Amino acid sequence: MKITVIGAGNVGATTALMLAQQQLAKEVVVVDILEGIPEGKSLDMLQSGPVHGSDTFVRGTTDYNETANSDIIVMTAGLARKPGMSRDDLLAANTKIVKDAIGSASAKSPNAIIVVVSNPLDVMTYVALKVSKFPHKRVFGMAGILDTARLRAFIAMELNVSVRDISAMVLGGHGDTMVPLPRLTTVGGIPIGNLMPQERVDAIMQRTRGGGAEIVKFLKTGSAYYAPAAAAAEMVDSIVKDRKRILPCCAYLTGEYGEKDIYMGVPVVLGRGGAERILEMPLNDEEKALFKKSIDHVRGTIAKANI
Ligand code: APR
Repeated sequence: MKITVIGAGNVGATTALMLAQQQLAKEVVVVDILEGIPEGKSLDMLQSGPVHGSDTFVRGTTDYNETANSDIIVMTAGLARKPGMSRDDLLAANTKIVKDAIGSASAKSPNAIIVVVSNPLDVMTYVALKVSKFPHKRVFGMAGILDTARLRAFIAMELNVSVRDISAMVLGGHGDTMVPLPRLTTVGGIPIGNLMPQERVDAIMQRTRGGGAEIVKFLKTGSAYYAPAAAAAEMVDSIVKDRKRILPCCAYLTGEYGEKDIYMGVPVVLGRGGAERILEMPLNDEEKALFKKSIDHVRGTIAKANI
């Protein structure tokens, strides 16, 4: 197993380290345009291997030739948000970066699975599909695991219970229009509405929607990366080990949920074949309306992108 991580910044480097620590590949190649950064960080990561007992070979480069024949490409390159910016404010700059980077990487690894992390996520994943011309099951994005992880963390803090027993579902785009589903969010199988008043449920859902912005406001110079990297690594784990986990991912719709030719956060079976299947479930009228709003927003952003 060979995995390429595009981008040696905060998200890329943290993802590469997690992949190495979890020994999910024999070789992890980190590629960036900045001379020296991928090489230096990768050497540092490689030297952590003996300490945590990992034989994964981490290598940094600015040359896409070294990424050839990767099984998985994790795309993290791109600008990150600054305070006051929405993910959509990154559209023009990151469209260009995704086009360049995925163009180069997909040509060298025609059989790879691409996991996109760059924002605005739903649109950047669409760009990656168009540029790579890969089958859509091999191109998808990381968002739902991060959004549900934020939701689970907030619920665990509120109820003073283990995150392990909290199961959550978030649909829709990765942004202000995401659709957290409180009725499918459970603690030890009990819907959260039975464990806290409705106003606390609403407040936690709202905090989840703004979870990324809350961190950007603190950091000032960039956006979140520990949880995004952990979420990307969880997707890679399910692919590499063919676990067929059901994870909320940004997947290409071909009629599911009544929509097509768009990427949206939906429950996906993730395995060696990539986004192998999308699970559909009935939505109530309110959820349908929110999902549609999210679809319209992402379609509008795709129209603005120079794909
Ligand atoms: N090819 C390869 N790497 C590139 C390219 C390119 N064409 N353009 C930029 N990069 C690299 C930068 O050199 C930098 O090292 O992408 C990296 C981005 O790192 P950071 O600025 O630290 O940003 P990060 O926090 O990692 O976020 C990256 O992930 O979560 C999303 O919204 C976030 O879009 C952002 C992306």
